[in-house]
Amino acid sequence: MFRSPSDLSIPVIAIDGPSASGKGTVAMLVAQALGFHYLDSGAIYRVTAHAAAMAGVALDHEAGLASLARGLQLEFDAGEVFLNGKPVGDLIRGEEAGRAASRIAALPALRAALLERQRAFRQAPGLVSDGRDMGSVVFPDAALKVFLTASAEERAKRRYKQLIEKGFDANLGALLQDLKERDARDAARSAAPLQQSADAVLLETTHLTIQQAVQQVLDWWRDCKTA
Ligand code: DC
Repeated sequence: MFRSPSDLSIPVIAIDGPSASGKGTVAMLVAQALGFHYLDSGAIYRVTAHAAAMAGVALDHEAGLASLARGLQLEFDAGEVFLNGKPVGDLIRGEEAGRAASRIAALPALRAALLERQRAFRQAPGLVSDGRDMGSVVFPDAALKVFLTASAEERAKRRYKQLIEKGFDANLGALLQDLKERDARDAARSAAPLQQSADAVLLETTHLTIQQAVQQVLDWWRDCKTA
């Protein structure tokens, strides 16, 4: 749902990075620790791809997808995503949905259609958002910008564990291959490519626990506020 226009004085922490880096978990825990709102922007791309499949809109029909995206009845509540009032979290978390999201995310008109919807999540007392272009495009004035990554092998292991825990089938080799392809597509596109922006701090998490990564972001946030 659209909320009131966002207020630029409300602080934003932008956490960008590649698939399966753990940025979603870290962003959510940082938001919880600070009492901030949380935006999982990847879920918006995933729900849009799912809605397109339901509506029979082809994943390369840019104008059709942009129009569909503008009309989406989308809500987030207590960690669940609702499309037209129905929970769709389980339907959008699989690898197929991720691939479809990555394909439509390359289309500039679709990205433009989702821009204001994402900015509307900027609500008091603050927002932690994760994605690919949170710091570069959606919230360029974010107070803290983090580029969170890990080696492809470590990310494939994390995704494998996550999928098995959720009861999905998974194959580690296929996941690694898929992640590399998704990284290449997300990084090569001309619209808001996946890349560390010059003003983002790098958080390399291959050898960090989730708690250590969360603590590092909180430390940077404290430094930002006292600077
Ligand atoms: O973070 P995720 O794996 O749920 O994102 C799914 C896809 O959506 C990802 O492959 C690229 C795209 N995406 C994007 O282009 N920009 C964002 N801000 C978030 C996700």
